Amino acid sequence: MQEPEPTLEAGPAQQSQQPVDGEPIVVIDQLVKQFGKLRAINNLSMAIQAGETYGLIGPNGSGKTTLIRMLVGLVKPTSGSIQIMHERVPAAKIAPRIGYMTQLSALYNDLTARENMRFFCNIYGLRGKEQKQRIDEMLERVDLADRIDSVVSTFSGGMKQRLSLACALVHGPRLALLDEPTVGVDPELRRTFWDYFAQLNKEGVTIIVSTHHLDEAARCTRLGLMRSGILLAQDSPHELLRQSGQANMEDAFLYFARSFHATERS
Ligand SMILES: Nc1ncnc2c1ncn2[C@@H]1O[C@H](COP(=O)(O)OP(=O)(O)OP(=O)(O)O)[C@@H](O)[C@H]1O
Ligand SMILES: [Mg+2]
Repeated sequence: MQEPEPTLEAGPAQQSQQPVDGEPIVVIDQLVKQFGKLRAINNLSMAIQAGETYGLIGPNGSGKTTLIRMLVGLVKPTSGSIQIMHERVPAAKIAPRIGYMTQLSALYNDLTARENMRFFCNIYGLRGKEQKQRIDEMLERVDLADRIDSVVSTFSGGMKQRLSLACALVHGPRLALLDEPTVGVDPELRRTFWDYFAQLNKEGVTIIVSTHHLDEAARCTRLGLMRSGILLAQDSPHELLRQSGQANMEDAFLYFARSFHATERS
């Protein structure tokens, strides 16, 4: 994948009420999600500032996907609330300003790259010349321009991830919710993805991203360490390492998990 060109221009959702850097773009208050007996999100409160690249880190089943799906409005909270861009979720008004890349591919395998992108454009009301321009731009940007008319079933895993990302961002959202965008992606392409996220971030897109790759954590402005639906700790990667006295994020995570449970027991 080549170095992406800085071509992503203000999309249709970017024109009014820009979130201002440093102001909260997401405010979560005492959020709970109960699936039967299982508490997937346990009284979680946090705020994410506009301009951040916020990483959600945690083992399988810690609630990352559930939280992201609640932010998108796809999962209804049992209690508590979420505000995004000053609107209580779910809110039709903010939907076009949010881009969501699901953990499992949301692509139609029997459609081409262009057809898949058209489908997402139509959902967001992008039509005609603007639609064509955005599709061309995004496919160029994820280095799939030469495969625009190929059927997705012929794509490799990494190509599908690139196309999924292009679909999630085609409408120029101000907030990108990316659920394990680099799963199954080789190290070189992972780096390219993160260079791309950094560039989007520079262009004013706030990013919330879940990952199991702890080397990616270093590229986030802040991290939320999750376990069993609880936010164990959140801060910049540097600060989390400093506070825990550990040399790497894996050990820092274990430190915060142990400290949390020790405090709970006492
Ligand atoms: N629709 C559902 N019905 C019942 N339980 C669910 C549902 N969705 C999620 N869960 C449960 O909620 C918990 C959190 O799941 P979630 O998918 O949010 O974790 P995750 O942190 O994204 O994990 P992974 O790293 O494996 O993607 C898990 O125990 C899961 O089984
Ligand atoms: Mg998940």
